[in-house]
Amino acid sequence: MTSHPQIPSPLEPVPQLDLAAQYAAIGGEIRTAVERVMASQQFVLGREGAALEEEIAKLCGVAHGVAVASGTDALILALRACGVQAGDEVLLPPFTFVATGSAVSALGAKPVFADIRPDTYNIDPSELERRVTPRTRAIIAVHLYGLSADTDPILAFAKARNLPVIEDNAQAIGASYKGRRIGSLGVAACVSFYPTKNLGAYGDAGMVVTNSAELAARIRTLRNHGQAEKYLSSEPGWNSRLDEIQAAILRVKLRHLSNWQRARQSHAAEYNRLFSQVPGVMPPLVPEGFEHVYHQYTIRIEQRDALHKFLSERKIGSTVYYPCPLHLQPLYSALGHKPGDFPHAERAAQEVLSLPMYPELRKEQITRVAETIAEFLKC
Ligand SMILES: Cc1ncc(COP(=O)(O)O)c(C=O)c1O
Repeated sequence: MTSHPQIPSPLEPVPQLDLAAQYAAIGGEIRTAVERVMASQQFVLGREGAALEEEIAKLCGVAHGVAVASGTDALILALRACGVQAGDEVLLPPFTFVATGSAVSALGAKPVFADIRPDTYNIDPSELERRVTPRTRAIIAVHLYGLSADTDPILAFAKARNLPVIEDNAQAIGASYKGRRIGSLGVAACVSFYPTKNLGAYGDAGMVVTNSAELAARIRTLRNHGQAEKYLSSEPGWNSRLDEIQAAILRVKLRHLSNWQRARQSHAAEYNRLFSQVPGVMPPLVPEGFEHVYHQYTIRIEQRDALHKFLSERKIGSTVYYPCPLHLQPLYSALGHKPGDFPHAERAAQEVLSLPMYPELRKEQITRVAETIAEFLKC
């Protein structure tokens, strides 16, 4: 690796994510789609949303999709449709975005954490046994950073106890696990189309996908004030409908998703190749039979905070997802957890760093990021 001057200001910045580059490539298609919705003057629950539901369900290899207002709503509605209610417990990993836990809390249920595996950052199936109680009502398997959780042992554990497994698939759309598409593994899967996701809307949006006609019908009702028929509500619901403009934009982007996914995978392979020469950096692990879609390319490094600063001084974007595990969030102080309760999640929170990753990233930018990290480690 070559060395660089102290602060290479003439060098072009490398952002962690560059949505403007994506818009530059597909802006024309997006504007045409938005114009089509404007011309139809149908803005909520129309043909774009219905078509998107079919297309995303097909991508995930399931029968039904129900479009909702966000990934968080998808989780709340899926949990509720599975019968989770106040006083119940739901098993989930502590190393995830807070929404996984707050969806459980929104129903008055209690999140019960099970530690992660240190190598994949996803829930450790062998931890479930220690945490399950007679009050456990569901399990959420999060596919963090674009890599599936090791779902088979989770499904076996759940089946033996008649518990539903809900996939938090906010970050791994398009990924697969042992030949099966993520989103088709549990009883339902919750997708987020938050703008920064691999398939991102131009605002908030989400979807529940499922093979169960019964769950899909219930969620369809719940997302629209509990109305199974027009102006006839059978149970309390609220407004979690997806609007047509977002659906039309997502349908345009869906046409590009597999190319974008291949680009992300090729960037990850290039990072891996460069980091194989750099001791001290642990690249993402992809177990045999798993397909990673690299929503994030996340390395692990002991001197994480110093590296984060070093990169930022050199105009290279990087982000810590996530610096505080859920069991130590002030939100959950009443649960009484303390540091040391979930050591793998806590260590990950101190050592992970997500590097620039987006389809339009160029090879020379990847080289620059890897060389800068090698330079940091030599200092
Ligand atoms: C793991 C995880 N779960 C849930 C969510 C919630 O999705 P949304 O932001 O669409 O509500 C997100 C996204 O931000 C996420 O990353």
